[in-house]
Amino acid sequence: MTDTDIKKGLAGVVVDYTAVSKVNPETNSLLYRGYPVHELAATQPFEAVAYLLWHGELPTDEQLAELRATERQHRALHPDVKAAIDLLPTSAHPMDEVRTAVSVIGAQGTAGIANVMDAVGTPEENLDRSIRLFAQLPAIVAYGQRRRRGLELVEPRDDLDYAANFLWQTFGEESDTVVVDAFNRSMILYAEHSFNASTFTARVITSTLSDLYSAVVGAIGALKGPLHGGANEAVLHIFEEIGTAENVVPWLDAALAEKRKIMGFGHRVYKRGDSRVPTMKAALETLVAHYDRPDVAELYDALEREFVERKGIYPNLDYPSGPAYDLIGFDILTFTPLFVAARITGWTAHIMEQQAANALIRPLSEYNGPDERHIQGYVPDTAVI
Ligand code: CMC
Repeated sequence: MTDTDIKKGLAGVVVDYTAVSKVNPETNSLLYRGYPVHELAATQPFEAVAYLLWHGELPTDEQLAELRATERQHRALHPDVKAAIDLLPTSAHPMDEVRTAVSVIGAQGTAGIANVMDAVGTPEENLDRSIRLFAQLPAIVAYGQRRRRGLELVEPRDDLDYAANFLWQTFGEESDTVVVDAFNRSMILYAEHSFNASTFTARVITSTLSDLYSAVVGAIGALKGPLHGGANEAVLHIFEEIGTAENVVPWLDAALAEKRKIMGFGHRVYKRGDSRVPTMKAALETLVAHYDRPDVAELYDALEREFVERKGIYPNLDYPSGPAYDLIGFDILTFTPLFVAARITGWTAHIMEQQAANALIRPLSEYNGPDERHIQGYVPDTAVI
């Protein structure tokens, strides 16, 4: 075996079929079940996109109403989940908080299942588990931000749609339509992206016939890393370091001299630009106008222009979403949990797809450790060899 036989990072390896989404770097397009993501973001509420990812078709009015009714029914944070969150220090990273909360929900959801073979559940049970997680994550994420600010939990409002209620539970006040719309678009853009690291993690866990909750907990762990979901919060740290557009050039000179990775740029699959960026950038522009913050747009454009010119590496979705979430009022630490709340739809669609046509995921490795050696003085017991 040679170095070229080793597919480090699984780069370029096609491991399975999926009907959930198609990433096409050549045409710079991303399709969810065949629909271009920018069309979905421009026309659909996030609940309809969740339905599409789970069922393969957009919902009829009746189906959407039914999903919305179920989602509203499960929005409230269970007291035991809240108690588990409250056990964590407020200085814990919110991704650890979200991971813990989902783990508690998983223990509740599989309680009483004595035989591990049964925890995997039926397709109906897994759809139900998916909808419940989708419904509960906004409360978990919103409460996390409020708790860190010393504020009380806000109960959900069942007269508001998913995106408006999410903002209500976070800020305790109704948000303007333009903000709800930008937030709804971001959720749709973050919902799904084929075999990215966290989705693949979820599929690996699912392939062992473990349960959906365990797969989601593992996916949250994978998403936390700054080379994946953690990049949106890293973008804001960079913005804070740079300060204003005038500082971009000296800042970038120093950062590149130190061989720093510039967060929010580059992608394993897209090499000529991330297909989700134009839609999210347009949403950011509406927020910049709404909050009257031209300085944000100036810094955004200056860093993009300078970095693309020097490196030929383009922004990914985290680049516009980071400043957008900041303008809406989310704490930087809440950004990646927002990604979880969105990606729960894609993860669970993939988990159910994996369950429907499962094969244990177990790749091989090429050993490059020491040659066989033996413990000095060890006398083999011929009876067990
Ligand atoms: N800043 C500086 N240099 C970069 C960057 C960047 N953001 N991205 C790639 N490069 C350089 C890298 O240093 C390397 O250069 P060289 O060949 O001289 O060593 C070359 O480009 C190839 O980079 P790579 O890391 O080997 O490529 P990859 O396909 O493994 O990386 C990536 C993809 C996303 C890990 C990488 O672009 C990166 O670290 N970006 C910053 C983190 C980030 O924004 N992550 C969010 C990804 S999109 C959201 C998601 O889908 O999860």
